[in-house]
Amino acid sequence: MFICTEKLSHTYMPGTPFAVEALRGVDLSIARGSFTVLLGPSGSGKSTLLQHFNGLLRPTAGRVLLDGQPLGYGRRELQQLRRRVGLVFQEPEAQFFSETLFDEVAFAPRNFGLEPALVEERVEQALQQVGLDDPVLKERSPFQLSAGQQRLAAIASVLAMQPQVMIFDEPTSGLDQAGQQKLFALLQRLNRVSGLTVVVVTHRLERVVPLADYFLVLDRGRLLMEGPPEEIFLRVEELRRCGLALPPVTELMNDLVAAGLPFSTTLYSLEEARREINAWRKKVAYP
Ligand SMILES: Nc1ncnc2c1ncn2[C@@H]1O[C@H](COP(=O)(O)OP(=O)(O)OP(=O)(O)O)[C@@H](O)[C@H]1O
Ligand SMILES: [Mg+2]
Repeated sequence: MFICTEKLSHTYMPGTPFAVEALRGVDLSIARGSFTVLLGPSGSGKSTLLQHFNGLLRPTAGRVLLDGQPLGYGRRELQQLRRRVGLVFQEPEAQFFSETLFDEVAFAPRNFGLEPALVEERVEQALQQVGLDDPVLKERSPFQLSAGQQRLAAIASVLAMQPQVMIFDEPTSGLDQAGQQKLFALLQRLNRVSGLTVVVVTHRLERVVPLADYFLVLDRGRLLMEGPPEEIFLRVEELRRCGLALPPVTELMNDLVAAGLPFSTTLYSLEEARREINAWRKKVAYP
């Protein structure tokens, strides 16, 4: 397994009256090249878990392994780790600090001490990956991009490190429908075309289920479930109990099945549902 945790626990402010046990004995594994979605109600420990994958947080107990090696927390080890595992925070554009889009994306490669020609190559490639490779945009202030472009720019600045894993914490928050669609298309390309391992926290289930091959569900700091979508979404009652809903289209199809219609209970996207309904209509019209 590519990323593993063994009995990972994290307590914020341990030993004080304000201690919060955010993760409790989490054992999980994420396969190389997978598209993994992390679900859980608010406060269940999702962001805390993600920050362990690139060493921003250190376990209070247990450990995290990357490619079979336990993470080290020395300066050099952390530098290495962060080149391999890129983390995109929620609303990452809030942290822009460069004068141009180019400089923003060039920051990490320059920081590694790469030659200017190599830096430029990395920036070009990263901007191309996110679809912002426009000479005019490159010289513009990152603050003068649209909200959707800012999000893509922030992702490009992490991609410029050429990581093997990309981790996203609610990457679509604050984006409109078109922006969300673009973002999920990007995640899919990064995973399927560029071969990156993708881990994402999102509530946009109807969009992400068709892309994902693995789900992790946290509840109050514990790992409640892990598995492929068709296993996870069969456990409807457990999901509901911890405050998680199925994609609305799945709920609707399940209601239709309960009313006697011959549909599948494992449909997660509008597209699949449309296909199934159309096939059924044809059958009813021309039996
Ligand atoms: N810096 C911090 N100091 C103290 N407690 C924290 C800190 N960050 C998070 N917590 C607490 O740890 C628990 C898990 O928080 P976390 O942010 O990981 O949840 P989450 O699943 O990401 O929630 P959300 O969906 O709202 O983003 C919560 O009880 C939270 O209040
Ligand atoms: Mg969070």
